[in-house]
Amino acid sequence: MSTHTQKIIILDFGSQTTQLIARRIREQKVYSEIHPYTLELDRLRDMQPTGIILSGGPASVYDEDAPISDPGIYDLGVPVLGICYGAQLMTVQQGGRVEKAEKREFGKAELTVEYTGGLFAGMEVAPAHHQVWMSHGDRIEELAPGFVVSATSGHSPYAAIRHAEKPFAGVQFHPEVAHTLIGTDILRNFIFGLCNCTPDWTMHSFIDATVAEIRAKVGSDKVICALSGGVDSSVVAAMVHRAIGNQLTCIYVNNGLMRTGESEAILRFFREKTDLNVIDVDASEYFLKQLDGIADPEEKRKRIGYGFIEIFEAEAKKLGDVRYLAQGTLYPDVIESVVFRGKAPIKSHHNVGGLPERMQLELIEPLRELFKDEVRELGLELGLPEEAIYRQPFPGPGLGIRIMGGISAERLNILRQADVIVLEEMKDSGWYRKVWQSFAVLLPIQTVGVMGDGRTYEHVIALRCVDSRDAMTADWSHLPYELLGRISNRIINEVRGVNRVVYDISSKPPSTIEWE
Ligand code: XMP
Repeated sequence: MSTHTQKIIILDFGSQTTQLIARRIREQKVYSEIHPYTLELDRLRDMQPTGIILSGGPASVYDEDAPISDPGIYDLGVPVLGICYGAQLMTVQQGGRVEKAEKREFGKAELTVEYTGGLFAGMEVAPAHHQVWMSHGDRIEELAPGFVVSATSGHSPYAAIRHAEKPFAGVQFHPEVAHTLIGTDILRNFIFGLCNCTPDWTMHSFIDATVAEIRAKVGSDKVICALSGGVDSSVVAAMVHRAIGNQLTCIYVNNGLMRTGESEAILRFFREKTDLNVIDVDASEYFLKQLDGIADPEEKRKRIGYGFIEIFEAEAKKLGDVRYLAQGTLYPDVIESVVFRGKAPIKSHHNVGGLPERMQLELIEPLRELFKDEVRELGLELGLPEEAIYRQPFPGPGLGIRIMGGISAERLNILRQADVIVLEEMKDSGWYRKVWQSFAVLLPIQTVGVMGDGRTYEHVIALRCVDSRDAMTADWSHLPYELLGRISNRIINEVRGVNRVVYDISSKPPSTIEWE
């Protein structure tokens, strides 16, 4: 079911920046989707793309197992833009030649633009010099028949190319990254100039189209939604509610692993600030019992996930004849990424996976086309307040995966107190919204300290604060020493049983954001 009249299809050849291409295009209010390069020609034709982009990728076109897309795409009558590997592939498929460059060109390069039409329309009169971002080993050596050069760089005589008559163009560099200063202009010229798109994909139009879609699909049936208080499930609930009102029931399960006061705050918010129909279930005791004596991270995750399904299912059954489950799946979860294909999951993430089959529910996933920042924008457009939209991500298994070793009411209590201090200080100092996540972790060791005149032998809290765009990679946040000092002092002075605080300075990869 697709409601987009215009769309740019990106074929992914495994570049790390493929998602960025889609985001850059969506920022121009044109809808864009990523598909693996293996997409069949018939399916691609059925999608009626307004334009096609061939992404970059780590391979060489002449590798034995090089990713090669169907050459029939050049006969669809649709503009095609090749980026890096995509430009090399286009050259070879159209009859030109690509070779290993003597020197790998990586990083910033100077582009000399020789043609100020097509991708370079509206830019300075030729020759103009622009900074671009390169990352390639091969380069185009001989243009395919019909192609001409648009720009050169120090190591690439054909840094940008175009077909003299057909709407095909290629760039050896990456227009989607911020270091390519003219990147946005190039992508704009492709989508608006070559593809003739209209910038009408806005959150407003998205809401109208999606509401209509949900209404048509659901009819008079009942829908349930697992509400966690996080951004995604809140936005899903608001969206589905706008479409079908009280045919939607939200279920909030308190698993006893929430931050201090969080469950109460979430329920108060939904009851006072929205018209959502929310059932809440306090299952804290049940979860604590399930987790008693369990120290293995995967086992904890499994028990929490399983317990959640049990309780949710029981509640849903009480409602009777529910047909749909609304879920906050986002676009990065559904892209069939060429890079990550076939890799085993690192942690079993807890979401409502498993429920649809067990309860024979059909899924409604209104966010499956959106990136996280778009979900936030959508939430604001739906009228959710900023405090709900800019809340830091909180994992489904909650504090359960922030207590290393066994979970007990006493250890939860220590972590909760430390965690409140971290949040208070982050908010007071204005850092809460600058970082991706900031939280405390309770370690399974005790260390020696001295307090007053006496020796102590107590717990250690690790502080974890990271910067990230999408949680795929992250770096530890460079918080001011004064702030770190204040958090440490307060935790040690105010939380009984803690005599040491350490700061986690690991990036992801090779570490992960959560400790378990
Ligand atoms: P990791 O630890 O894998 O975390 O680097 C990446 C992001 O995902 C969050 N996270 C989870 N979220 N269920 C969730 O809903 C989970 O099981 C889960 N595990 C980790 C984590 O907080 C970070 O933002």
